[in-house]
Amino acid sequence: MSSRFRLIELFVLLYLIKQIASRVELTNIVCTSLDPEFADFEYCYLKSVNRTYKYMSLKVNLLKKPITKVKVNAELLKRFSGYKPYLYNVTVDACRFLKNTKSSPIAAYFYGFFKSHSNMNHSCPYDQDIVVEKLPISAINTHFTEVLPFPLGDYLFQTNWFAYDINRANVKVYFTLS
Ligand SMILES: *[C@@H]1O[C@H](CO)[C@@H](O)[C@H](O)[C@H]1NC(C)=O
Ligand SMILES: *[C@@H]1O[C@H](CO)[C@@H](O)[C@H](O)[C@H]1NC(C)=O
Ligand SMILES: *[C@@H]1O[C@H](CO)[C@@H](O)[C@H](O)[C@H]1NC(C)=O
Repeated sequence: MSSRFRLIELFVLLYLIKQIASRVELTNIVCTSLDPEFADFEYCYLKSVNRTYKYMSLKVNLLKKPITKVKVNAELLKRFSGYKPYLYNVTVDACRFLKNTKSSPIAAYFYGFFKSHSNMNHSCPYDQDIVVEKLPISAINTHFTEVLPFPLGDYLFQTNWFAYDINRANVKVYFTLS
């Protein structure tokens, strides 16, 4: 009885160590305009300032402002042999969601990654070019590993940005959880 209890304790401990040890390393970011007359990336990059400070930035110029109808499809894929769908594939009406960010817990989780570093943090219409400015990887790390436990491995977080129901842009963020 006592040794069985110890075994459970051990598993709990190993589980906790695994959680604490997890960290996110961003490996690449790729932004693609699918309709350059509608939206055009001015920049999109990861930057390592030093060992502890890394960030990502992107700017998309919107060429047909204002935009009043936006949908975002977000997929989390995990690499097995090739990237496979994993856990999430959600599409949200961004305009509706941003009016009430409590309306979708999954969207709120993903929005939590960048809301404090982006000018997209208001509801429609969008009449300015969109920026995500110097989003620190450490913030992503905290948000990702503290909120939900994920198995270690290589992931791809892919988003498709629809305006007026046409896919205009694709942003891929590759990362490793180790
Ligand atoms: C990394 O760079 C940031 C920003 O320039 C600075 O505040 C921080 O002290 C640096 N950290 C180290 C370990 O050099
Ligand atoms: C995710 O959902 C979208 C829309 O429902 C669909 O077009 C896409 O193929 C799905 N992706 C995967 C990897 O299943
Ligand atoms: C929206 O993002 C800007 C930076 O682009 C920030 O200054 C502002 O505090 C953010 N607002 C909210 C409500 O998060």
